[in-house]
Amino acid sequence: MKELQLLKEQILNCKRCDLHKTRTNPVIGEGSLDAHIMFIGEAPGFNEDKQGKPFVGQAGKIFDELLNSINLKREKIYITNILKCRPPNNRNPTQEEIKICSSYLNKQIDIIKPKVICCLGNFATDYILKKFGLKDKIQGISKIHGKVFSVSSLSGLIKIIPIYHPAVATYNSNMLEILKKDFEKIK
Ligand code: URA
Repeated sequence: MKELQLLKEQILNCKRCDLHKTRTNPVIGEGSLDAHIMFIGEAPGFNEDKQGKPFVGQAGKIFDELLNSINLKREKIYITNILKCRPPNNRNPTQEEIKICSSYLNKQIDIIKPKVICCLGNFATDYILKKFGLKDKIQGISKIHGKVFSVSSLSGLIKIIPIYHPAVATYNSNMLEILKKDFEKIK
């Protein structure tokens, strides 16, 4: 698709913030252009930066397990992050970086037109709730994970589902169970 190709080229050449200086590859996103569900994470980590693909490291393994648990294939969804470049040492994204980079995410949402947006973790949740006029619902992921918010957009009704970031389950199997329950909502 021409629009997405153009966006890819823009991101590959992007120098809007300093993260381009330390990244190996930007991670644009991947999946089906006809996806009904879009997952939005935080930012590329070490492995994603090396491979230029989203969720291929430790958090990616957990993400795949969660998808499997509801019989969803990666080919059926679209997955991306708020930031397209890895912050050094996986530090949190800054508000400035989110502000600068989110125009790419907005464009991806416009192109894919998802019916369900799954926000993985606080950064994606806060950004998406704000974007769709639900700033008053922002309370931290531990309070609102698994809830479903409906918003109307130019392309129709969108359901927003905040979920814990899969990385929280790396060393905590209780969190994996909570994540699995929340994934059932997506189903
Ligand atoms: N964490 C994220 O938020 N995104 C990735 O792509 C990998 C880890």
